[in-house]
Amino acid sequence: MRVGVIGLGIMGAPMARNLLRAGHEVIVHGRSPARVESLVGLGASAAPSPSALAARVEAVVTSLPDGPDVEQVVAGPDGILAGASPRLLVIDTSTIAPDVARTLAERAAARGVDFLDAPVSGGEQGAVDGTLSIMIGGDAGAVARARPALDAIGRKVTHMGGPGQGQMTKLVNQVVGATTLAAVAEGLLLAAAAGLDPVAVVEAVGSGAAASWQLSNLGPRMQKGDFAPGFMVRLQQKDLRLALAAAASLSVPLPATAVVHQLLALVEARGGGSLGTQALMTALEPRPRS
Ligand SMILES: NC(=O)c1ccc[n+]([C@@H]2O[C@H](COP(=O)([O-])OP(=O)(O)OC[C@H]3O[C@@H](n4cnc5c(N)ncnc54)[C@H](OP(=O)(O)O)[C@@H]3O)[C@@H](O)[C@H]2O)c1
Repeated sequence: MRVGVIGLGIMGAPMARNLLRAGHEVIVHGRSPARVESLVGLGASAAPSPSALAARVEAVVTSLPDGPDVEQVVAGPDGILAGASPRLLVIDTSTIAPDVARTLAERAAARGVDFLDAPVSGGEQGAVDGTLSIMIGGDAGAVARARPALDAIGRKVTHMGGPGQGQMTKLVNQVVGATTLAAVAEGLLLAAAAGLDPVAVVEAVGSGAAASWQLSNLGPRMQKGDFAPGFMVRLQQKDLRLALAAAASLSVPLPATAVVHQLLALVEARGGGSLGTQALMTALEPRPRS
């Protein structure tokens, strides 16, 4: 397929690399020249704007921070819809509000373009390895047409229903992931205070019923004080805000999620918005770091 990629950050750049590796013709657009050039060096070509990119491809994968960014790139003055031919597929892997995804799907359909909300889970490593779980909302025929591109970036593709249902599933994912992360931080702080061997405790607990992606991937980083971002605190906060808003509209209380949201607000208030989410541990430490 001829596939475009817009948003070449922690997730978008490895998705573009995996599309190239799978033999697709890849055209990229990004704001940072260095990120564009590194993909051109691997065989991609570059487009100067989303509309110029859209005119050259069958499908566009977007990986952008939030709803307003996706609105601008898809429906803005020089956006994808401005350059799209009918039957173009837009595969938005960003995490955004379900109602924004639904509105964009309607605006795209008015131009004959299929818009899929296709948020992902699996972290930076999942993007690098091409093993993401992809949760999709949109038309079944469009999902089938998107399959060659989806198979290059993910291992599990689940069609959850109509527009917005992929994003709603991703919010469920974030509720489960964020609350698990807080549990991992608490458990590892207890382990450290008790003088348990850090490697052995992750191995032992991670081999039983408390195993989780958060424990095995982020636990060792918490123990080392390595807070480099795979997934930034400010993006997690965006996701938890979306989850709390969606839950409120459905009259579903999310008390544990609300606590994690406030703990991460503390990390952000201390200047840690660009740290990885494992920095949640710093909000729970009984004593300040030396
Ligand atoms: N990181 C994870 O583990 C993870 C996991 C699952 C889902 N997600 C979701 O995936 C999305 C991307 O996350 P990320 O971690 O890759 O964030 P990121 O590293 O900040 O990447 C976002 C990219 O979007 C680009 N961008 C923003 N506005 C743009 C515009 N108008 N035109 C072109 N490019 C634009 C940014 O460009 P600049 O570099 O020029 O600012 C940046 O490269 C988010 O919705 C996030 O919630 C992330």
